[in-house]
Amino acid sequence: MSEHTSKASISGMREGYSDYAVSQHNAIANGLETAVSQLVDTFQFKQTSDAYINLVDLGAADGVNSFPVIKRFATTLNKKISSLSIQVSHVDLPSADFNDLSRNIFQHEQSYRQTLSKENINLHSVIVPGSFYDCFLPENSADILFSTTSLHYASKPAAILSKHVHPLCAVGNEEKTAWEELSATDLNTALKHIHSSLKPGGKFWAVVPGHSRDDSTGEIKNYWYREVLDVMSQQLLQLVDKGIVSQESWNNFVLPVHQRHMSHWQKWFSENDSMFQVDFLYAEEQDNPYLQKFTNSHQDVNLFADEYLSSIRAWSEQIIMQLLPDIEQRNLFFEGLRNQFVQTPDRFDKDTYSIYIGATRL
Ligand SMILES: C[S@@+](CC[C@H](N)C(=O)[O-])C[C@H]1O[C@@H](n2cnc3c(N)ncnc32)[C@H](O)[C@@H]1O
Repeated sequence: MSEHTSKASISGMREGYSDYAVSQHNAIANGLETAVSQLVDTFQFKQTSDAYINLVDLGAADGVNSFPVIKRFATTLNKKISSLSIQVSHVDLPSADFNDLSRNIFQHEQSYRQTLSKENINLHSVIVPGSFYDCFLPENSADILFSTTSLHYASKPAAILSKHVHPLCAVGNEEKTAWEELSATDLNTALKHIHSSLKPGGKFWAVVPGHSRDDSTGEIKNYWYREVLDVMSQQLLQLVDKGIVSQESWNNFVLPVHQRHMSHWQKWFSENDSMFQVDFLYAEEQDNPYLQKFTNSHQDVNLFADEYLSSIRAWSEQIIMQLLPDIEQRNLFFEGLRNQFVQTPDRFDKDTYSIYIGATRL
């Protein structure tokens, strides 16, 4: 196992991730029709009947957010070819909760396999433990590969940020440069592996959390969980001060995500224009569904705090576990975060910013 995989296996979502991954679900739903019309609809089959398609879900977590994508892709492909067989490869880190994924695949497929079989689509799934920082599938094996809200995970928890859970701003220039260098290296490694796993003519679709920038000042304007990450950082530092988290563990910890700017993606694709043809590259802001619900409904602050906290626990708990292995301590930490949501709900992120990439492998 390479250094990359062993270090990256710090993430992996916990059981029940998708119950609270509403923002992620919305980000996917917002981009799905563009992906279908510009990538899946234009997919070229090599033959006119009895086709076999390898569809890849990279960073699958518990799979639930991917099922509408798989079903929509399958029915669109099927309009062009009779007797279609699809194998879906769900790829995630070896540390992910594959029991959860396996249960969900079984349940969901039971329900939509019946619909698909009426349309003469034969669909089967496999689970692949692997990392996009390593070779995760045989070369030239994937026809369509999609990755939703996953490609921002860093390859390693490099302890180069003094605030440790801050992906981008409020850090000194040296730290920022080191983090941006890792971001560029990670992007290059992941996209090269994606390229090599795709067949020529294969399609790639990604939805990735990113950041926007004020063009005149260069200031970072928006990224996922901006305020939340700040509060998490402050709270963890208090635990270090109290001696609950050792200075050594803290020094070796960083929340391993890059929220890149659109220009980082553009740069990579233009420098590697013999590898992919870019079909689309755009960014969109989207409301925080938890805050929206709170504002539009009865302003029930406890309900907001509970739901928002669950959404953050769903993706961060596995990572926080490295610092707080004890469940009681983690509960205290998350309780502190919840208190902040109750006290100042309006302070928390009004929206998120996602980047959508569609490309054809050359
Ligand atoms: C926020 S979840 C997204 C899950 C799902 N695709 C969605 O959109 O809801 C990110 C997933 O990416 C996985 N992941 C992180 N780094 C990875 C890597 N290097 N290779 C493969 N998967 C990775 C995590 O384990 C996690 O399951």
